[in-house]
Formats: sequence, C-alpha cells, structure tokens
Amino acid sequence: MILQKLSLLNYKNFEAESFDFDPKINCFVGNNGVGKTNILDAIYHLSFGKSYFNPITTQNIKHDEDFFVVEGFYEKNDSSEKIVVSAKRGQKKIIKRNGKAYDKFSDHIGFLPLVIISPADRDLIIEGSDTRRKFIDGVISQRDSEYLHTLIKYNKVLAQRNSLLKYFAANNTFSQDTIDIYNEQMHAYGTSIFGKRIAFVEEFLPIFLNRYKSISSGEESINLVYQSQLQENDLSTLLQKNIIKDKISQYTNFGIHKDDLVFEIDGHPIKKFGSQGQQKSYLIALKLAQFDFIKNHSKTNPILLLDDIFDKLDEMRVEHLISLVDNENFGQLFISDTHAERTEDVIKKVHQTYKMFPLSS
Ligand SMILES: Nc1ncnc2c1ncn2[C@@H]1O[C@H](COP(=O)(O)OP(=O)(O)OP(=O)(O)O)[C@@H](O)[C@H]1O
Ligand SMILES: [Mg+2]
Repeated sequence: MILQKLSLLNYKNFEAESFDFDPKINCFVGNNGVGKTNILDAIYHLSFGKSYFNPITTQNIKHDEDFFVVEGFYEKNDSSEKIVVSAKRGQKKIIKRNGKAYDKFSDHIGFLPLVIISPADRDLIIEGSDTRRKFIDGVISQRDSEYLHTLIKYNKVLAQRNSLLKYFAANNTFSQDTIDIYNEQMHAYGTSIFGKRIAFVEEFLPIFLNRYKSISSGEESINLVYQSQLQENDLSTLLQKNIIKDKISQYTNFGIHKDDLVFEIDGHPIKKFGSQGQQKSYLIALKLAQFDFIKNHSKTNPILLLDDIFDKLDEMRVEHLISLVDNENFGQLFISDTHAERTEDVIKKVHQTYKMFPLSS
C-alpha cells in the first residue's frame, strides 16, 4: 500500500498544502513548530479518522477557520483509493472512501494499516491503564473489525449501567431485574473481548520479545502481562457479587474496562525501574511488534510513521529502523526530524528511493 499524494486544507498550521510522495521513504525536515508532526498526524487521520496527538476534533482545525479537509490518494492492491476526512465546527466528522461516506467510522479502521512511533508513545508507560487498553484495542481492531464493534457496544452498555446506578442513588430506589439486563449484556460483550485480548497477548508476546532482543544490547529480561479481573471470575459473577460496591460508588467497578497491560523489566514495572534507554527500546519494540502483527494478518504492508526519530533514538537505532525498509519488504516510511542533513546521511545508507520535504514557517 502506497500513499501517493496528500492534500491539506486548514489542517492545524497548514492553510492549503499538497505533497507528492516517494513510494519508499519520505522525510519532513525543518525547525521546531513548522508542522512536521502535523503532517504525520494528517496521515494518521486518514487511517484512523482521528488524531494521534489531539483527540479534540475542533482543535485540529486551523485557528480562526471553520473546517479542515485531509485528502489522501492511495494505491492498494493495484487499485486507486481516495480517502477524505473532513470536519466542520458544530458538525460530525466525515470519512469518505472514493466519494462515499462511511456510516460507521469503525468500518474504515484497518483498511489502511498504519503504525506510528513517536515521542508521545512514552504515555504508554507513564499514563494510566486506559492508554494501554487503547493500544491493545488499536492493534486488534486493525485486523478484527468485529472486535471494535463489540467494544463499542460494551462501552455503550457500561455507560447506561453507570447512569442507572446514578439514577438509583438519586431517587433512592433499586431494581435488580433492570440491573440484570445490563449485567447480561456486559457479560456477553465483555467475555468476547476478554477472550480476544488473551489470544492477542499470547500471539503478540513472542513477536515483541523478539523485537526487543534485536534492538537492545542488554541482558535484561522483559515481559508484557495482561491483567484482567475476568481472570479471577466470569464477568456475570463479578457484577453480581459487587453490586453493593457499585451502588455506593454509583459506578461499575468490574469489567474489561479495568484491564491493564503490565510492562515489566526483570520482574519489576518498567515505569519505576527501567532506565531511559530501556524504556525507549521497550516502546520501539512494542510498536515494531505491532507492525509485524498487523502485517501477519493483512495482505498489505502497514505505513510506518517515525516522528522525531533522533529525539527518541540514538543513531544506531535510527539506522536499524531505517534499514528495515531494505530487509523486510517494508511498505512506505514517513519520517520527521529537525535536521535535514543527519537524516539524509542515514537514509542514503539504505539504497532506496527517498524524497526530502523541507518545511519552513
Ligand atoms: N489548530 C491549529 N491551528 C493553527 N496552528 C496550529 C493548530 N494546532 C497546532 N498548530 C501549530 O502547529 C505547530 C506545531 O506543529 P508540529 O507539532 O507539527 O511541529 P513540528 O515541526 O513537529 O515541531 P517539533 O520539531 O518541535 O516537533 C505549532 O506552531 C502550533 O501552534
Ligand atoms: Mg514534532
């Protein structure tokens, strides 16, 4: 799969801009704040219908403008695909494929597989469990759209159950029969998601360990552990057993919305005990394993976005990453860096076509 052309209209700091891309390597270079990451984010938008960096749609519209349009022209499996994402203040965002708007955004996820490696990935280590759940969900959804649909349904029932608990508390009332209806639905959706997350981690772990080994020189042992309350009991039982707690907190305390992925180094949390370098290696291995995983499950090579490569990586790792384009029949690579020269020096070492895009404000 190749992104051939990208057009931006009122997207973040860009008023109107177009880029024709190289099928292999493309580099956006320029000073801080010129919009390098914004271009990568626009490409991310075309795959996921949202920003990787700023989830608030209207904040992706250029200041003082009313709308944005991001257009991408792709070649996929020998046919042309035009994807357009547009957003207008006060209206719902629209994604179109070849002129036809999707009814459900979730139907688009996975169509243009993509992996981003960015300094913002450190959130996966330092932030709360929802960041790591989003990571798992993102990887599984790119190859299993049924998973995403089930997750959306689960979240809807969860929100309804929480509202019901609040309603009961506010009106000093309770109905076991009504709660049971929600418990049943949460159990069905939650159990399906739980099963798919277990299967995912089982398949993902060896790929991840392999990637970590290839980019780190250390002897440390690392691990990735899936944690879920459903490992102790089935969801229906958990919900029934803990109804008193739920009534008091007016919130559903048990379910797959509490799952986590624990990142470990030598048996301890990497957040507290990993060195900076080990944390970086861990995150890159995680993302490259995501790449391998998606590639194993889809016929197309995912697009790879490397944001701010030298900020996050030393030269050795950058070379390793870029050399992947040579070694593994990679798809297309988009890179951002502040220094044109050092990026070009590294890229020249792999004998692939490339294009530099110098940006200025
Ligand atoms: N909605 C918006 N409207 C206008 N400008 C915006 C909007 N959102 C972000 N920007 C601008 O985009 C610029 C940042 O762009 P970006 O993060 O892509 O820079 P960069 O080239 O990646 O910089 P760095 O080298 O520091 O990573 C900032 O100047 C910011 O003010
Ligand atoms: Mg940037």
